[in-house]
Amino acid sequence: QNRLKALGDKSLFSPKHVHVIGGGVMGGDIAAWCAMQGFKVTIQDLSQDALGRVVGRAVKGFKRRYRKDKFRIMNAQDNLIPDLHGHGISKADVIIEAIFENLEAKQTIFKDVEAKAKPDAIIATNTSSITLNEIAEVMKQPERLVGLHFFNPVFKMPLLEIIYTPDKTDPKVIELAQSFGAHIGKLPLPVKSSPGFLINRILMPYILEGVTIHQEGVPAAVVDKVAVDYGMPMGPLELADTVGLDICLHVGKILADKVGVTLPNTLDSEVESGRLGKKSGQGFYNWKADKKVKEK
Ligand code: NAI
Repeated sequence: QNRLKALGDKSLFSPKHVHVIGGGVMGGDIAAWCAMQGFKVTIQDLSQDALGRVVGRAVKGFKRRYRKDKFRIMNAQDNLIPDLHGHGISKADVIIEAIFENLEAKQTIFKDVEAKAKPDAIIATNTSSITLNEIAEVMKQPERLVGLHFFNPVFKMPLLEIIYTPDKTDPKVIELAQSFGAHIGKLPLPVKSSPGFLINRILMPYILEGVTIHQEGVPAAVVDKVAVDYGMPMGPLELADTVGLDICLHVGKILADKVGVTLPNTLDSEVESGRLGKKSGQGFYNWKADKKVKEK
């Protein structure tokens, strides 16, 4: 609690409504988490079907978390509102973009968001690897854009990186973003926008080396067991499947380009053949309903 207080002052900001754009692995869980913290959350995705899946997954999470407490389950459920057309953008205090990792697609979103958002709303991206500068190129007020970089799984991971560009991001926006982090019970750590930010700069080489060792012929389960026996909470290949192999490939490419990590070929071929990890049911392991079935 003291650490949270030190990093984000709740009294600076009284957000009530969060709008999340993109209800995939991250956006769905960010929306569900914020709904559980008592916020009204509008969640936007490309189709009613996708939104149905987001709500279904969120409700499962509420039930797991609250067990038999029907009142809290219902409250969280009531807070989560599917919003196909993005009506929530103009009303929200915090807008979080979590669509797939593609610069042009994100820029299109932010042009629209900037035009519609309330003047004092926080405008944030959950990108893992694209710099704020690149995304904000299309914005009239690039100083408004901040990164709210959550970690997967959102329900379990306390850290929230607050990504900013020195001399560009408005310091007030950074402060408000930190305050929001404290409001939702996360540990909001300001981190300069740079390749991989802070955590992925450390974590991605761990994942990529694990994949390389597997590529050299060591079974995934063996690589992971050794890492876990050593004391890591999760092995690198299970972690890669959890994060999503497409996301690992994207972040890995950026780190390979900017800081010289080595990218294993298998990652490319897995993604090309649609094996994206947990979210597609197959990666280095086979997955069923978020449970590891076996090594493929
Ligand atoms: P995902 O592929 O699971 O989900 C993306 C969602 O966005 C899909 O539901 C898709 O239908 C929706 N979408 C696409 N275009 C849209 C649009 N124009 N409007 C509304 N919805 C749209 O992706 P994931 O893994 O959730 O990643 C999302 C973002 O979060 C990426 O920027 C990624 O780098 C970042 N991130 C991912 C982490 C991970 O562990 N997967 C961790 C931290 C950040």
